[in-house]
Amino acid sequence: MASHAFQALQVPEARQARRARRVRQAVQAAQALRVLAELSPAHPVEVTRPLLAAAVAGAQPVLELAARKSDTLLLRVPAPAPASASAPAPVPASARDYGGALAMVLKVYDGAHPGQGESAERAGREACALARLRRAGVLAPRLVASGERALLRLYVEGPVARDVHWNPDLARRLAEWVYQCHEALAVEEARSWLVGDMNLGNFVLDVASGRLCGIDMGDTRVGDRLDDVGEGCMRIVCHRPGFTADRWECAVAFAIRYGQLAGSVESVLSQVPARASASFRQMAVWRDDPFMAELAEAFSFLWGEALLSCGLGLNNWSIRPIDDEEGTEGEA
Ligand SMILES: Nc1ncnc2c1ncn2[C@@H]1O[C@H](COP(=O)(O)OP(=O)(O)O)[C@@H](O)[C@H]1O
Ligand SMILES: [Mg+2]
Repeated sequence: MASHAFQALQVPEARQARRARRVRQAVQAAQALRVLAELSPAHPVEVTRPLLAAAVAGAQPVLELAARKSDTLLLRVPAPAPASASAPAPVPASARDYGGALAMVLKVYDGAHPGQGESAERAGREACALARLRRAGVLAPRLVASGERALLRLYVEGPVARDVHWNPDLARRLAEWVYQCHEALAVEEARSWLVGDMNLGNFVLDVASGRLCGIDMGDTRVGDRLDDVGEGCMRIVCHRPGFTADRWECAVAFAIRYGQLAGSVESVLSQVPARASASFRQMAVWRDDPFMAELAEAFSFLWGEALLSCGLGLNNWSIRPIDDEEGTEGEA
């Protein structure tokens, strides 16, 4: 790994030395990964694997994408050559950048990163969830390699949902992805492996397909599907510029679309306040932000107002608490 590559990282000067050390450790972790053969199922594993392993060993870090919940780096990986002139390329041409290299995202967990469970379990769970999503036809990054504490995925080109203008159509597309994810990772009625972190930075508008792609399953856990829906509403409502009429309309569109797919709009709409309030309370603790705690208290009222302004008066819909078992009846 050329040392000059580290100088290209976009990090504040004071933290540069510590960051460079972590990046070096992360890239070393990438070299110890078990390369998967999933990129080219047609290719014999024994041929594909060493080609990809050699390519990963030559990876250059380009940019630090995240450092709080994981060390996540964008890597430029030289494209592996085909095994012979007539053999297909080990990775699809669509995955290459203008220079013929591959853009990959390396994610490394250690004990310092907050999240669900130990580093090794998290990496394994995330790799497993991503692989299951892709097998079920849900748009997710291709997994290239996985290991004890790290995973390597293809980069999905496009803006994250946090950085684009929101409208109800985008909100519905997010609901569709989340519903498909729950179906693909279902455990039992109303429960599945969840996204677990509905931060809007975890969804990319994939330019290649024009579809929304969930990219971060690092906090996946088994739970009630409506926890993701409630957190999704919270994230949408807070999204800059937060708490505008537009944002509430998007949150309602998100919940309605999920409810349509799950077979009960009424049930989903009535359960959102308890779930979203729980997400606000959690956020209040994480960020030590009393405003978030106030929003947790006010959410039920504000949700009722939002439904009214979308022409959906509460009429027969009562707002149900989280532990109301009836609330989950009839959900997919
Ligand atoms: N496969 C990917 N394709 C495109 N961008 C990605 C990909 N993986 C991660 N990113 C970018 O890196 C950021 C951090 O990655 P993420 O998996 O969300 O890590 P964390 O668990 O630390 O939040 C994302 O918000 C996104 O901007
Ligand atoms: Mg993330």
